Amino acid sequence: MKTKTFRFFSATLIMLSIVFIISCSDNNDDTTSATLYTRLGGIDAIAAVTDQFLANVAADSKINARFEATVANSSRLQLLRNNLIDQICAGAGGPCQYKGKTMLAAHTGMNITQDEFNALVGDLVAALDKFNVPEKEKNDLLAILGPMQSDIVGK
Ligand code: HEM
Repeated sequence: MKTKTFRFFSATLIMLSIVFIISCSDNNDDTTSATLYTRLGGIDAIAAVTDQFLANVAADSKINARFEATVANSSRLQLLRNNLIDQICAGAGGPCQYKGKTMLAAHTGMNITQDEFNALVGDLVAALDKFNVPEKEKNDLLAILGPMQSDIVGK
């Protein structure tokens, strides 16, 4: 009788261990548990994409006139770069704090059109593509920035 009870508990313990190991290995899937910040490659990757994004904007005749005064002033350009990096990093769940203006405050009075907004998003997508950022991460980032449109366009 004692041996039977022992065998029953041993079998139960083994079964519970197997269930535990299987459930743990499931959760180790990087694509579901890692933050977007980590999946993008961290701060260095975000800074590299941001620099490419700003270069694309500067070369984009649809919107570069908007940034003429910014590009002409290196500390102003540096501040915009840092704000963009912090904004993307924080939005993606990284260890940064966005210290700039709200999107509404930053763009009010500019009367930015939908076409201009789309052009800027296109310049960002081109930067993400240049660094081979996968479709999932690209869409996750655009899903964070997309809702800002209502505070930016037509204000
Ligand atoms: C999702 C889209 C956009 C995001 C995330 C974004 C983000 C930002 C950020 C973080 C700032 C700096 C705010 C601060 O100074 O505290 C800024 C400023 C600015 N943005 Fe945007 N922006 C977007 C769309 C646009 C568009 C479509 C245009 C025009 C075509 C535009 C033109 C500007 C300009 C001219 C400034 C001022 C730059 C300066 O300080 O010299 N933005 N934006």
